[in-house]
Amino acid sequence: MNMKDWQNLIMYGDCLDAIRSYREMLSGQVRLIYIDPPFFSGTDYTLKSRSGADRKSAGVLREKETYSDKWEGGLEEYLEFMRVRLEAMKPLLKEDGSLWVHVDGHVSHYIKVILDEIFGYSNFVNEIVWKRTNSPKAQSKGFGSQHDVILLFAANASKFRTNQVYRDHDEKSRKPYSYEDDKGKFRLIEIEAQGIQRTEGRKQFEWRGRRAPYLYRKETLDDWWNMNLIYKSKNGRYTKKQYLSNVPGIVVSDLWIDIPPVQGLSKENTGFLTQKPESLLERVIESATDPGDLVVDFFAGSGTTAVAAMATNRRWILCDSSEAAITVAKERIERTYRSVSYSLVKV
Ligand SMILES: C[S@@+](CC[C@H](N)C(=O)[O-])C[C@H]1O[C@@H](n2cnc3c(N)ncnc32)[C@H](O)[C@@H]1O
Repeated sequence: MNMKDWQNLIMYGDCLDAIRSYREMLSGQVRLIYIDPPFFSGTDYTLKSRSGADRKSAGVLREKETYSDKWEGGLEEYLEFMRVRLEAMKPLLKEDGSLWVHVDGHVSHYIKVILDEIFGYSNFVNEIVWKRTNSPKAQSKGFGSQHDVILLFAANASKFRTNQVYRDHDEKSRKPYSYEDDKGKFRLIEIEAQGIQRTEGRKQFEWRGRRAPYLYRKETLDDWWNMNLIYKSKNGRYTKKQYLSNVPGIVVSDLWIDIPPVQGLSKENTGFLTQKPESLLERVIESATDPGDLVVDFFAGSGTTAVAAMATNRRWILCDSSEAAITVAKERIERTYRSVSYSLVKV
């Protein structure tokens, strides 16, 4: 198979076999690999679906097994399973590509060490903490877990860049925008050196009747003045107006607390128990890739990565070893994007 033979691709089978079968085609082609593999949770996962529900009856709730996260050989077997697959994934990445591994505290530290070995410690970029629930279960020992971890490694940290992403303003971030004029709400930004900077023999100059250690050149201050962006306080001090409408949001850090889990009644819920939110995948994709790039998910589950890639105009490959997962993903992708074009291969 050739890259030109398909627009998007679903691979049904073990991702290690998929990588071995398509290594040549994919080598150095992938901008982003996101994986959400089994977490060593000791659980058999199911797909819940309800049929025959009407106003009088709740219908029948069916549970079908999708995949098992039980490991007879314990942690050692799990880590070996992950190691060979992570090793196989790395050569598929482009030089400016990255791998995002979604796990939780059961194994995140072991996986970090394995990734350090495979990618090199210097290519570790971030440990992202995603708050995945507002209501952790009460525990008699220790504390209820409320977060997952996403480990981000660059194929080559010197070539890797993220696109800046923002989250919506919240009550706290809106608070400083307490001033208002005909252009809307604004806050005040210092244009004079403050604190220790002020006393370190910094040059002062006179501007519009006030002598101060300004942080900007006179010409810049004049431009802002002409654009009505300078605010003069009662005591004659100048500051710059920053309008809320000009700030795209809060710059996202490594603490992701604003993306809720998939809600029971939401349109995106497929009944797949470990399904991740589309907005989580959209953030990952938008920060690590550009439109047209190829995004791969080797543990695809219900196909969240493909739906998020379609929403952001990226090409995608999904792989999963569970027939039930492939069925759910296919139905979901076709329902969400009726004119989607993809090929399906069994590995
Ligand atoms: C945690 S789920 C992924 C959920 C997905 N992120 C979503 O939003 O629906 C993990 C998936 O990995 C699949 N899986 C387990 N072992 C695999 C393997 N060796 N190769 C490919 N897929 C595998 C399981 O069938 C399961 O669907």
